[in-house]
Amino acid sequence: MADAGAGLDRVTADARADEPTKPRVFLTRLIPEPGLTSLREAFEVVGGTEDRPATREELLSNVRDVDAMLCLLTESIDKEVVDATGPRLRVISNMAVGFDNIDVAAATARRIVVTNTPGVLTDATADLTWSLILALSRRVVEGDRLVREGRFPTWGPFVLLGREVFGATLGIVGMGRIGQAVARRAAGFEMPVLYVRRGGPLADADIPCGARWEYREELDDLLRESDIVSLHVPLDQRTRHLIGERELSLMRPGSFLINTSRGPVVDEAALVAALREGELGGAGLDVYEREPELAPGLVGLDNVVLLPHLGSGTRETRGRMAEMAVRNAIAIVRGEGKASVVNPEVL
Ligand code: GLV
Repeated sequence: MADAGAGLDRVTADARADEPTKPRVFLTRLIPEPGLTSLREAFEVVGGTEDRPATREELLSNVRDVDAMLCLLTESIDKEVVDATGPRLRVISNMAVGFDNIDVAAATARRIVVTNTPGVLTDATADLTWSLILALSRRVVEGDRLVREGRFPTWGPFVLLGREVFGATLGIVGMGRIGQAVARRAAGFEMPVLYVRRGGPLADADIPCGARWEYREELDDLLRESDIVSLHVPLDQRTRHLIGERELSLMRPGSFLINTSRGPVVDEAALVAALREGELGGAGLDVYEREPELAPGLVGLDNVVLLPHLGSGTRETRGRMAEMAVRNAIAIVRGEGKASVVNPEVL
């Protein structure tokens, strides 16, 4: 029996030795199915068994001997982490459209490809932006609180009056995929849309038939003319604190600021001050400057709706993001299929 068992062990070991070895991936955090299974089929997976951000120590040690890293926006892949990667690392695949958590310049310097997941989260993020616009304008969260606290004696002509969304002017800062999806939804509310865009005005063919989308050259003009301003720019050196004290002071009294892009696009301390002074009508925030910390004073304000970075947070979208991040990693490591590459100069 013992001999036969030993023989079997040897046969299995020999068979394994014949199997082509899989490339290795460092998964920084548990990701949804079916991406997880696809990742395990294609790679030998290191890490990613728990739903929590990887620690600094895990990042620095697990990047040494892998061909790919699949990370999330909760991990800061800065120069120190990039410099700790071993010579095998070909790709850093981010399960997010934004990639401000990665030092792309450092990765490029080491000829590491960085990929992201655009497109698959556009509609979910646009829907969430609208949840904030409506919740803020119609005081949905305050209303819910009032009912739960037993402070709803009866209908009243002056109870929690909000502001009309229908026909209000919507200003969109950053008219990319998500900005345009937000603007398309505004048609149902018959809202004129103003927009600023790095690349200049959209081509006529990109504007839906009958839509009232007007380009503004200057952000200041958009801020002065809009009732609701919604931010959809990527975070980089040009957009950090794009909305600060001066910009907030240009906004119409009583107007709303919505941010579902990245927290540092807004100077949060200046926002708290503007909301306290009462000039700004309110703010709907899904992202924060020092996420998950909030600027002092923010939670004490009634005229804000605060969400925990839920922009892409539907089952369907998170599933698609994970699948795309896995496909991106496979495409780069195997050199087959398409990847969404943010630093194509390294290819
Ligand atoms: C989410 O915030 C993303 O960038 O995908």
